[in-house]
Amino acid sequence: MYAPIYRALLSTAIFGSAIGAAVPAVLSERDTQVPTVWAPEVGSTYQIILTNSMNLESGLVPNVDIYDLDLYDTDISVIGGLHAAGKKVVCYFSAGTSEDWRADWAEFKEKDKGACLPQWAGERWLNTRSADVWNTMAKRIAFANEKGCDAIDPDNMEIDGYSNENGGGLGLTTRDAATYARKLAAEAAKYGMGMGLKNAQEILGSVRDVVQFAVNEECAANEGDCQSYQGFGKPVYHIEYVNSRSVSSNKLRQACNMDSTFTTVIKTLNLDGWVTFCDGKSYTTPTNYSAPNKGRKDCLNSKSARSLGLVN
Ligand SMILES: *[C@@H]1O[C@H](CO)[C@@H](O)[C@H](O)[C@H]1NC(C)=O
Repeated sequence: MYAPIYRALLSTAIFGSAIGAAVPAVLSERDTQVPTVWAPEVGSTYQIILTNSMNLESGLVPNVDIYDLDLYDTDISVIGGLHAAGKKVVCYFSAGTSEDWRADWAEFKEKDKGACLPQWAGERWLNTRSADVWNTMAKRIAFANEKGCDAIDPDNMEIDGYSNENGGGLGLTTRDAATYARKLAAEAAKYGMGMGLKNAQEILGSVRDVVQFAVNEECAANEGDCQSYQGFGKPVYHIEYVNSRSVSSNKLRQACNMDSTFTTVIKTLNLDGWVTFCDGKSYTTPTNYSAPNKGRKDCLNSKSARSLGLVN
C-alpha cells in the first residue's frame, strides 16, 4: 500500500536534484513523509501459525495483538479481517533457504543453492550474497506489502560459518548474515513494514538499529541464549517447543522465566494452531488445511550436506 507513495518520492528526488536550488526545501519536507515503520510494543501478545492457514470464521482464537503467519499460505482476506479487528500481521517467509514448494522456487538458480537442511525436506541454504537471490527476496517483500503485512519475519538468518553446515556449503559468514539482514530490513522499511530478527543472536548487535523486534526459537531450552537479548530493549517473540500438546509445569517455568521484553508462546515444532501461554492457558486457532508438498523437487528425504558433496 505504501509502494506508490515511495516511488513518487523517489522520482521527486531525482527530478528535484536536476532542477536546482529552490526544490530541496520542498524535498526535505516530503522526505519526512516516507512511511513510518511499524514497530510493536513491548508486552504485546502474539500467536504464530506456519502450518495450515488461519481461519477467522469462528473469530479470534486466541485474541492476541499480533499474528505471525505464512506469507504465501495466508489468504489476503485473513490479513484484512485481522486488520479490521485492530490486529497486526507479521508475515513469515524463508529468506535464507530455498523451499521447493513455494510459487517462486524456480527463480533460485542451482549456483545459489547450498547444502540441504538435514532435518527439513525441500530446503537448501541460499547464497545470500547473490543478486539473483536478492531480486527474489525484494519481490517477496513487495508481495508482503501488497498483502497488507505490517512486518516481515524472514527466517533462516543464522547463516554463518559455524552454526549451519559450514556456512550452508556456500562459505557464508556472520558478516554476510548481518549485511543481508540490514538489507532486508531496509527494503521492508521502504513500505513502512517492520522486521524481526529471527534467532541469529550473533548478529543482533549489528542489526539492532534497523529491526523493530526479534523472534526467537528455544533460547530457554538452549541454556544461556536468552541472555543475548539483554539490552536489546525491543520486543522478543519467544517460542519454546514441546513434542506434543501438553506442557509440564517445569517447562512452563523454564520458558516463562524471562524479562518483560519477552512474549513467550509454547508451541509444537510444526507451528500449527495450538499454543500455550505463560498463564498456562492453551488455545487452538482454527486453520484450513494447506498441503505443502515439501521435498518433492529438491533435497528429497532431507539429504545431508555431505552426501551432496558440499562439505567435507
Ligand atoms: C477455509 O475453509 C472454509 C470452509 O471450507 C472456507 O469457506 C474458507 O473460505 C476458507 N478460508 C480461507 C482463508 O481459505
